[in-house]
Amino acid sequence: METWSPGDSEALYRVGAWGGGFFGVNDRGRVVARCAGTDVELQEVIEGLRARGLETPVLLRFSDILDERLRELRDACDGAIRENEYRGRYRGVYPIKVNQQRHLVEEVSAVGRRLGFGLEVGSKPELLAALSLTSGADEQLIVCNGFKDQRYIELVMHAQRLGRTIVPVVENAAELDRILEASERFGARPTIGVRVKIGSAGTGRWKDSVGARSKFGLTTEELLGAVGLLRERGMLDCLQLLHCHVGSQVQDIRTIKDAIGELSQVYAELSRLGAPMGMIDVGGGLGVDYRGDQSDAESSMNYSLREFASDVVYRVGEVCTKAGVTHPAIITECGRAMVAYSSVLVFDVVGSTRRAEEAEERCSGVAAEANADDEPAPVRDLREALRMIGPGRLVECCHDAKKAIGDAVSGFRMGYLTLEQRGEAERLFWETMRRAREERDRLGLEGEELADLDEILADVYFANLSVFQSLPDSWAIGQVFPVMPIHRLDERPTRQAIFGDITCDSDGKLDRFAGEGGIRSTLPVHPLEGEAYRIGVFLVGAYQETLGDLHNLFGDAHAVHLRVVDGDWTIEQIVRGDTCGEVLGYLQHDSEQMLSTLSRDCERAVRLGRMSAAQAGGLVRDFERELGGYTYLEQRAGPEHDG
Ligand SMILES: Cc1ncc(COP(=O)(O)O)c(C=O)c1O
Repeated sequence: METWSPGDSEALYRVGAWGGGFFGVNDRGRVVARCAGTDVELQEVIEGLRARGLETPVLLRFSDILDERLRELRDACDGAIRENEYRGRYRGVYPIKVNQQRHLVEEVSAVGRRLGFGLEVGSKPELLAALSLTSGADEQLIVCNGFKDQRYIELVMHAQRLGRTIVPVVENAAELDRILEASERFGARPTIGVRVKIGSAGTGRWKDSVGARSKFGLTTEELLGAVGLLRERGMLDCLQLLHCHVGSQVQDIRTIKDAIGELSQVYAELSRLGAPMGMIDVGGGLGVDYRGDQSDAESSMNYSLREFASDVVYRVGEVCTKAGVTHPAIITECGRAMVAYSSVLVFDVVGSTRRAEEAEERCSGVAAEANADDEPAPVRDLREALRMIGPGRLVECCHDAKKAIGDAVSGFRMGYLTLEQRGEAERLFWETMRRAREERDRLGLEGEELADLDEILADVYFANLSVFQSLPDSWAIGQVFPVMPIHRLDERPTRQAIFGDITCDSDGKLDRFAGEGGIRSTLPVHPLEGEAYRIGVFLVGAYQETLGDLHNLFGDAHAVHLRVVDGDWTIEQIVRGDTCGEVLGYLQHDSEQMLSTLSRDCERAVRLGRMSAAQAGGLVRDFERELGGYTYLEQRAGPEHDG
């Protein structure tokens, strides 16, 4: 067999295509995160965490990658400003909703201070967090989006009194009335922004963020009404920011070009109408190429960060120059592109089913036996399909087998097949698929009809994680994330697998992977051996953590913040994942009460002679320990209490 090198793995898993320069495979065949000039081996980190008592699944957050992404965004925008001789400046804000975890937001805010980034909030709790994060940094811009009630607006007024640079953005007509009313009460002259509904067509999953039917923003008529009202109240000078958001993960750069062109025209018109303006906020939308194929397909994008920055700056500049309007400060709210790269989820594979081998083992001898007279038709058809497998009839046999297994299941449901007959049908089906794939490979055949044999026969690797908790977008919207083993990459991966998580839900799986030429239904993996087999899911820093849910009561995974100091990785922070007691508590189960109920049951069992007092004590201690334990599968066994 030809040799296999770490470089072959890097090419197979297309690390260069999606990694943004932050990930690679080292000579030892292990994935590294490239942090501040140092390669950090993920496997070594995981082993180090295990030594500290922290099991997978674990989320690794690389502070250096986060810092670097902020710098890249800043540099791209500053570069575009220089290239286009744009006369305004760049001021990015980080939309907290993309990942609100305190340690991450603190990092963004701290680095942001140095690089001139502010924060964007969309609710009262997010605003409260932003106020705390910007303490001592009054110059850090806070953009307030989202629906606003009186209390939200009052908080904005208080923040302004504190000295913060804060802009409430009017999302609908009623909000302006509330802002004006509160301004009067507070005797304030706030800096006000308006969000407009952009007519340019959106693309991708969040395309409805723009257009007449979008939830947010003022129509042209409402905008003119707002300008009239502000003028009437002598507050038109407060109107200084124009905002739109074209939707998250914009796949096609044309969407950005069209929307920013239109937004810039609105900006110039507001200036003509007498508003001082000064800031144009182009919202988010800058994508992340999760698939790494630089296309306009979902989970990808057909443009680079540089192109995005250049298009935004050029368009705003062009329109404003033509209209004779001073170039405004350009604000972006591109949170996904800021934080996605910095987090990697690592999980262990805890077992597998190997359909192909199991089929072979179970089917020896049953292959092409003579048909029993009383055999139901679907079973007979399956036997025939298996018997006929050979060159020239492969596709036909596969079609026949798939039809017949469907008939067998229907027949069983209606009571025409016994359980044994259904079992026989399944065995014949799997053996047909296995033999068909063998023939296909032997003959070197290709084609869609035979390609799905890999998927049908793929191993299922059981993943110690909850897709619903840690990768909700994979389940909810079919988001594709880069997935690959983090070690053994100097070894050829000889198997094809999908991943099933440990929730009791058939939807809890990963079965779409970015591959050369499009989405693949299986991932090349290594056979499971004695040692732990670890898989990384990359670019998960945006949206996944707070959108996750508690399906089956699997809670937050551990999260660990890492930073390279003097050429070595160090742990900055460990945020322990939820314990069983905590997730139960979220749903109003009281651990204390549960323990006392259990103790009562134990005493009763002791009274009835079902267990000894020592066994009862052990049970209560185990129960208590589990309440404080991780919600995921743990490799360490607990002490036995069998008094
Ligand atoms: C108003 C607003 N700004 C910014 C963002 C973040 O955009 P992105 O996901 O492109 O970072 C969103 C998210 O959809 C948003 O609604």
